[in-house]
Amino acid sequence: MTTKSRNYHIQTFGCQMNKADSERMAGILENMGFQWSEDPNNADLILYNTCTIRDLAEQKVYSYLGRQAKRKQKQPDLTLIVAGCVAQQEGEQLLRRVPELDLVMGPQYANRLEDLLEQVFAGSQVVATDPVQIFEDITKPRRDSEVTAWVNVIYGCNERCTYCVVPSVRGVEQSRTPDAIKAEMIELGKQGYKEITLLGQNIDAYGRDLPGVTETGRHLHTLTDLLYHVHDSEGVERIRFATSHPRYFTERLITACHDLPKVCEHFHIPFQSGDNDILKEMKRGYTIEKYRSIIDKIRNCMPDASITADAIVGFPGETEAQFENTLKVVEDIGFDLLNTAAYSPRPGTPASVWDNQLSEEVKGDRLQRLNHLVSQKAMERSQRYLGRVEEVLVEQVNGKDTTQVMGRTNGNRLTFFAGDIDNLKGKIVKVKINEIRAFSLTGEMVN
Ligand code: SAH
Ligand code: SF4
Ligand code: F3S
Repeated sequence: MTTKSRNYHIQTFGCQMNKADSERMAGILENMGFQWSEDPNNADLILYNTCTIRDLAEQKVYSYLGRQAKRKQKQPDLTLIVAGCVAQQEGEQLLRRVPELDLVMGPQYANRLEDLLEQVFAGSQVVATDPVQIFEDITKPRRDSEVTAWVNVIYGCNERCTYCVVPSVRGVEQSRTPDAIKAEMIELGKQGYKEITLLGQNIDAYGRDLPGVTETGRHLHTLTDLLYHVHDSEGVERIRFATSHPRYFTERLITACHDLPKVCEHFHIPFQSGDNDILKEMKRGYTIEKYRSIIDKIRNCMPDASITADAIVGFPGETEAQFENTLKVVEDIGFDLLNTAAYSPRPGTPASVWDNQLSEEVKGDRLQRLNHLVSQKAMERSQRYLGRVEEVLVEQVNGKDTTQVMGRTNGNRLTFFAGDIDNLKGKIVKVKINEIRAFSLTGEMVN
């Protein structure tokens, strides 16, 4: 390989898994001698880590890619990579669409970037999308934050929700061992990271694929056991986890979150629809009554817990009355935050070929009505913070007002207050909240 300085640029789309993968791939590239370039046009290597959860996400990639493919025609030594979920979904077809590409690699190959690049630099055009065992990563990721970090605990998803591409692009569940996870957390603690979010598409599935069951037939390594196992990681002051699946969510987990002081009182549990018939069509495996009872149990145990979720409107066949059942759930539960989306038919998923698709107009209208209710309810949830003193972990300067810093409460509410980032970064400080908005708070530091 050449010795001249080489710059790379990574653009990441999609969820936290993709962000975590990008940080690892950046670590690998820096290990290989590449240097970060903020401007993609100054980079010798550009990697798009892509998302295909909805059509809009997928289309975004093609427009970015088109521009760089043009540049490559004038600058043939530019290395162009598509990684992530669109890469996995499209595979070889991407090369036909964009022949300038050097490398198409699915999410399971993130840790193998160096090997793949060696093949590219030897002159091949490479497509890596066959299912593989995910390597235990030894490279140090280049993390975006110096305060908070993601730690993958389980890759892939074995569910078959009828709208969702994730199982086909992320592959089957692969859990990391409790000890590998703990070792990473201890290392992060040493490096000064204060908050860790454990990641999995269906984090409640953690450990199902690892060997070992108890006498009662329970898996030996569950998410709950993992929380107890990693809790004493020195230096780490907060632990979060996402995403929870209502079908597998347990009471043991609620107890653990209550008992373990570092585990934040924040639960992200998507419900997707408030209607039982739609939930059945989605193959979610729970009823809305079951979902409500989980939330009740959490709130009985931790009255102040933050509850966030995802929901889809306009699933095929959804009637106005069924949509109103979703509104009803949002009205009754009062989420701190709800990620909403209009249903988008995805290639290869069962629901995409059903003949009862709704019009964009109906979907758009429902999305707007739901979003309106969501911000109203989030504002109501913010009310409880007014006048309260909250512990805020300071992450960075407020980009819009540099006299302020930004951090999060235990319940994950964004919080701003006047302060000096150099003194406060990475510290948990007490902040009296005196101004609230639907999704963020402002306050002042108290002693
Ligand atoms: N594993 C998580 C969700 C992962 S995808 C879970 O089981 O809940 C993130 C969110 O994208 C989903 O919760 C869902 O609300 C949304 N989503 C997934 N597929 C979608 C589709 N085809 N159309 C619209 N939204 C979708
Ligand atoms: Fe998709 Fe369902 Fe798996 Fe979540 S649990 S990633 S929605 S298939
Ligand atoms: Fe998108 Fe893949 Fe995540 S499709 S939401 S980046 S798992």
